[in-house]
Amino acid sequence: MIKSDTLENTKDFRISVAPMMDWTTRDYRFFARLFNPNIVLYTEMVTTGAIIHGDAKRHMDFSSQEHPLVLQLGGSNPQDLAICTKMAEDWGYDEVNLNVGCPSDRVQNNKIGACLMAEPNLVAECIDQMQKAVTIPVTVKHRIGIDEMQSYEEMLHFVDTVAATGCTHFVVHARIAILQGLSPKENREVPPLRYEDVYRLKHERPNLTIEMNGGIKTFEETQQHLQHVDGVMIGREAYHNPYLLAEFGHFWNLDMPDRFNIIQQMMPYIEKRLAEGAPLSIITRHILGLFQNLPGARKWRQALSGGNAKSIRDIEIALVNIRETIQRSEDQQQEQHI
Ligand SMILES: Cc1cc2nc3c(=O)[nH]c(=O)nc-3n(C[C@H](O)[C@H](O)[C@H](O)COP(=O)(O)O)c2cc1C
Repeated sequence: MIKSDTLENTKDFRISVAPMMDWTTRDYRFFARLFNPNIVLYTEMVTTGAIIHGDAKRHMDFSSQEHPLVLQLGGSNPQDLAICTKMAEDWGYDEVNLNVGCPSDRVQNNKIGACLMAEPNLVAECIDQMQKAVTIPVTVKHRIGIDEMQSYEEMLHFVDTVAATGCTHFVVHARIAILQGLSPKENREVPPLRYEDVYRLKHERPNLTIEMNGGIKTFEETQQHLQHVDGVMIGREAYHNPYLLAEFGHFWNLDMPDRFNIIQQMMPYIEKRLAEGAPLSIITRHILGLFQNLPGARKWRQALSGGNAKSIRDIEIALVNIRETIQRSEDQQQEQHI
């Protein structure tokens, strides 16, 4: 089902970084790509209204380095979704994904996201129209259930109804969403993970491509899931600890990139974005996790967060500092071994 050239690099399994509002911006995606050429990146969710009635260019522009890249759409009007899917294809996206997993109130009021799990026929109609508009793949990201619809059988009915349109790729966040009473953040933490439901879905529908999402933090966990499903999608950990994306390079026998090299490659990009008028802080906030788990990581974060870095020079100073801290710590460790 994977059609585009760039998605072919992902072999017969795939690892992706989840769509995350305000987090997986084009600046984060450019940065994330430097860790691994093969992982699939998603945009933040963009509503059909924002594209059709708003500034489409602002929402849809990306750098060519970001491929393979998926646009995630939010909406429930089949015609609007078809228009936006066609625009995504023309814009150069490799794939389009429909959000049926996001539980926020704002999103529910417009009939977007997880509340659509209660309307499998409407989702099927949306996916049908989207697929008819393009040749790139159209996929769905959904939960294992919502509110009163929590059983495996109900999720299977949802998937079967949508799959009847010819859609074959489902990304499943292995938690239900409670639409009344829990905040979006709580909905990513409180309902228990039910990975078995997703394994069972793949087992019972072997012809579908099933991707696991929710609570996955390590290479080892990812390897485990890939014994049962076709792909793994990582959200928060990929953002807070982006070097994890480099560790996934083991799947393709890639060399581990050097963090300082990554930031050097980021510098010309930052300069270009500044020249376009982007404020430095909207870029630096996505690179705070670069040295996660290393000595000096907290100082690096402090130096770059909250508008503390006013210029490229401030980033360079923070780099010199963390390089020294890491070197000192390595020297101390060596002395202890002598
Ligand atoms: C800040 C933030 C924003 C999110 N925005 C979206 C979104 O736009 N669309 C979506 O489908 N899911 C969104 N999610 C959910 C993630 O895609 C993912 O399903 C969830 O975080 C569980 O994966 P994880 O445990 O690996 O983080 C968001 C999550 C976070 C933390």
